Amino acid sequence: MLRLIGLLLLLPFVAPSLFAQAVQYDEARKIWLLTTRQSSYAMGVDANGSLQSLYWGAPLWRLQDLPAVPRRRELSSFDPPEMLSTDEFPAWGGARYFETALKITREDGDRDVVLRYQSHRNLADGVDIELRDIKDRIGVTLRYRIFPDYGVISRSAIVWNRTDKPFVVESAQSATWNLPAGEGYRLSYLTGRWAAETQLVREPIHTGMKVLESRKGHTSHGINPWFAIDASDATEETGRVWFGALAWSGNWRITVEQTPYRQVRVTGGFNTFDFAYPLKPGESLETPDFFAGFSATGFGGASRLLHRFEREQVLPGGAQSRLRPVLYNSWEATTFNVTEAGQKALAEKAAKTGVELFVVDDGWFGQRNNDRAGLGDWFVNPTKFPQGLNGLIESVNKLGMDFGLWVEPEMINANSDLYRAHPDWVMNFPGRPRTELRNQLVLNFARNDVKEYIFGVLDKLATDYNIRYFKWDMNRPFAEPGWPEQAAGEQRELWVRYVRNLYEVIDRLRAKHPKLEIESCSGGGGRVDLGILRRVDEVWTSDNTEAFDRLRIQEGFSQAYAPKIMSAWVTDVPNQNGRSTPLKYRFLVAMQGALGIGANLNRWTPQESDEGAKMIALYKRIRGTVQMGELYRLLSPSSNDVTANQYVSADGKQSVLFAFRHSQQFNTAAPTILLRGLDERAVYRLESIDNQLTEGLQQVSGAYLMRRGLNLNLRGDYDSTAVILERVQ
Ligand code: DGJ
Repeated sequence: MLRLIGLLLLLPFVAPSLFAQAVQYDEARKIWLLTTRQSSYAMGVDANGSLQSLYWGAPLWRLQDLPAVPRRRELSSFDPPEMLSTDEFPAWGGARYFETALKITREDGDRDVVLRYQSHRNLADGVDIELRDIKDRIGVTLRYRIFPDYGVISRSAIVWNRTDKPFVVESAQSATWNLPAGEGYRLSYLTGRWAAETQLVREPIHTGMKVLESRKGHTSHGINPWFAIDASDATEETGRVWFGALAWSGNWRITVEQTPYRQVRVTGGFNTFDFAYPLKPGESLETPDFFAGFSATGFGGASRLLHRFEREQVLPGGAQSRLRPVLYNSWEATTFNVTEAGQKALAEKAAKTGVELFVVDDGWFGQRNNDRAGLGDWFVNPTKFPQGLNGLIESVNKLGMDFGLWVEPEMINANSDLYRAHPDWVMNFPGRPRTELRNQLVLNFARNDVKEYIFGVLDKLATDYNIRYFKWDMNRPFAEPGWPEQAAGEQRELWVRYVRNLYEVIDRLRAKHPKLEIESCSGGGGRVDLGILRRVDEVWTSDNTEAFDRLRIQEGFSQAYAPKIMSAWVTDVPNQNGRSTPLKYRFLVAMQGALGIGANLNRWTPQESDEGAKMIALYKRIRGTVQMGELYRLLSPSSNDVTANQYVSADGKQSVLFAFRHSQQFNTAAPTILLRGLDERAVYRLESIDNQLTEGLQQVSGAYLMRRGLNLNLRGDYDSTAVILERVQ
């Protein structure tokens, strides 16, 4: 019998009379078809009771079309049927030699697990499927949830122990995603390092395994937990792209594997490195959510789906959350030299330029005059702030701005009162070195006493002061992740419990202080992932604020993450790398995300202050489009001397084109830029912010803009411009 469950979903790509349910289930053949507007995903139980992937790609609407799960044959004694399978959630057991999603060791040393379908529960927005070992009451509950408007499916797994003996989980992955059988796929991922995050890499997938991971305890600058796979023929706007992102801010791992049988599969979840999570009888372990989707409109289509999904389904407050305010942050201006008088002077200047949120960065607490002392002592430094923070906060509020404060709650300097009182609170292996990085140690957030203490400190700050915003920093990875108070067999739970406690502290703070907003920072973009994004409002993209470098960092960032959360500051020149770019260029680069100012406003000339105020006013006119609109990456900074990005507002009434030229050679004109995402039949009024439109156009059709395109007079080094399009008919 065929059962149709769930939401009625109109699919614009099929005849209007045809429709598909979000969840369709064929009881007789035990096949599920999960459908969103942009994708379908199917899996079913084979004759042996094993759950197999059947389909992932563009939407299907007819469950009956799907054939039963094929029976796999042994190719040779070296190529058993398991190796040809498309297991939805392969456990290590039987003859499986590829990356598995579950591996355990029982008390008696037995490590074999073979999972079979046990039961399921269909829901309006997904299905839970229980798989159980053929012998023991050990198993997993696989959770599938669909987001019909976003092309996205989430998967996670709960590993459970219903036996009367403990076992240790050595690998718990959230999902295995099987791609259509084939070869010639390409993998895109984001890599980098501190101050050079999220650079886009695109490379062929060959037979073997590519490991994307963090072993650092946080998400890491090195690789971000996002992937995209195409059949080597996708472009920004065309071609099939399968993509995914893991919602976890600790040690994570995504493997991309092509077997000799032309099977490409992606497996992701907790990093297996140093992983050992004991489960006593009755206990369970839940993996992070692994979100994945499909786009038939190239990499641009994939990122637009993810952006909208994040804005509406992931971020706190979702679609109702407010537009990001223009902020000022004092870090690059004053570093640790923060004083009430100095911050007040900056605040007055910031307010005059149109800043809405004034953030005091590092240096306001304890003996924090440099990075060698004070972390952990979250008490206002009385020399720097004789009236506590209230003197400053009241001035900031009177100037019409909200107040924000930097904190780094997970860290401690050895030179701090907190460390002197609680040396056991840092992660450590007794008698072994305690490696310091930036002179700091990592608190063991897996400990509940540490968690409660830090919650208390932050709660008190948020209660005592009118704080709208915490910039939550984390400036080093883990080392010596020991938890000596815990039994030896339970110490490695730290990797998971640390992150869960971190999430809990943020969740509780937000629940108690509903207006509080949080920025996730980890020395720049070291903690950007869908797990932290469920609980913060924006992220600090990179400590590299140099505008030309930022174009590359932002290009990569935008593959996976929405411009709304991409905090981007205008800072002084020459920048860290010695480069100087014009103020207009720096503003236009930063205006492509959540605009902030990090410059020393005391040094701005009256002309610069005036230009800054004009640019901030302009940003406020277009920020709805930038933050909530659709992004089209028109020309990439990786392959062109001209970079162009276009944003189109959700209602299609406004669009903004940003264009940058880093170094013109041979007096060559900039290429004609073809716009996208417009209504070809509509007419748009063009407003160049600085008369750089070469042809004096004022009103033109969407068809002209997308087919004939715009010529911009970008010349010399670090030239830039923006054109605002308003739909007039
Ligand atoms: C690293 C951050 O990324 C910077 O913006 C700044 O907050 C410093 N930490 C302060 O120590």
